[in-house]
Amino acid sequence: MPDKLIALVTGANQGIGLQIAKDLAAHGLIVLVGARDPARGVAAAQAVGAGAHALQLDVTDAASVAAAAEQVRREFGRLDVLIQNAAISNTGLRPAMSVADYASTTRPSNVSIAEMRAVWDTNVFGVLTVYQAMLPLLRASTQARIVNVSSGVGSLTVNSDRAFHYRAIFGPVYPASKTALNALTVAMAVELEAEGIPVNAVSPGFTRTALNGFSGTETVEEGAREAVRVALLGRDGPTGGFTRWEGETIPW
Ligand SMILES: NC(=O)c1ccc[n+]([C@@H]2O[C@H](COP(=O)([O-])OP(=O)(O)OC[C@H]3O[C@@H](n4cnc5c(N)ncnc54)[C@H](OP(=O)(O)O)[C@@H]3O)[C@@H](O)[C@H]2O)c1
Repeated sequence: MPDKLIALVTGANQGIGLQIAKDLAAHGLIVLVGARDPARGVAAAQAVGAGAHALQLDVTDAASVAAAAEQVRREFGRLDVLIQNAAISNTGLRPAMSVADYASTTRPSNVSIAEMRAVWDTNVFGVLTVYQAMLPLLRASTQARIVNVSSGVGSLTVNSDRAFHYRAIFGPVYPASKTALNALTVAMAVELEAEGIPVNAVSPGFTRTALNGFSGTETVEEGAREAVRVALLGRDGPTGGFTRWEGETIPW
């Protein structure tokens, strides 16, 4: 077994995930670059450089997730760091819409259940599928830790504050999928507490990526930094937290 820590980043072929992969490789980790499109995974792994390996992984496809876990078991025998980064903000049916217009067509009263299901399939059930498949490999590590890439838009506390400027955007599709991811994070942290495996959620901040049509204000380097910081804390770090920047807590 290799001495270097082995990390898997889901959805690492572009955006924040690709930057997380680059940063972890720069810290000397072996990085498995998860990508649903194998060719894009190979290209991303090449961009990350030494220590990076492409891993085909579609979080909505149980067979793909199982095959990825089997490949990690065969090649490395364990997993030390799992970063659940893959997500979608919509199904791409409304590419020309502004965030505000999209929000107005995805309120509880008028949201397409199919749209909501598709986004939750990736952002919530996909995360749980990867968790279940990778847990035996994490348990084979003495240094396992999990980071779930969430979003401040999923905070129930923040969105319950009438003074919060963006609360009109809180809706059942992407924002509530991140609320559900936060709940899964707490459930995972509770389950793994006795084993000493930390599970934390982080928010990248509003980052310029394809997810928001490159309208974000932060760079991918800024977006990646809290996930990387928490991933590198290891077993002595906190568990069951939700943070942005350098450990600034976000209320659930
Ligand atoms: N950008 C922001 O402002 C912001 C703010 C808060 C939180 N976040 C979170 O940050 C994370 C990264 O997002 P991003 O901004 O970097 O967006 P992005 O550039 O759109 O990247 C998303 C990644 O997830 C992958 N993905 C989507 N569905 C997948 C599936 N079924 N299986 C495997 N991979 C899949 C995408 O692959 P393809 O290239 O194949 O589509 C892509 O690599 C997400 O969890 C997002 O919710 C982003």
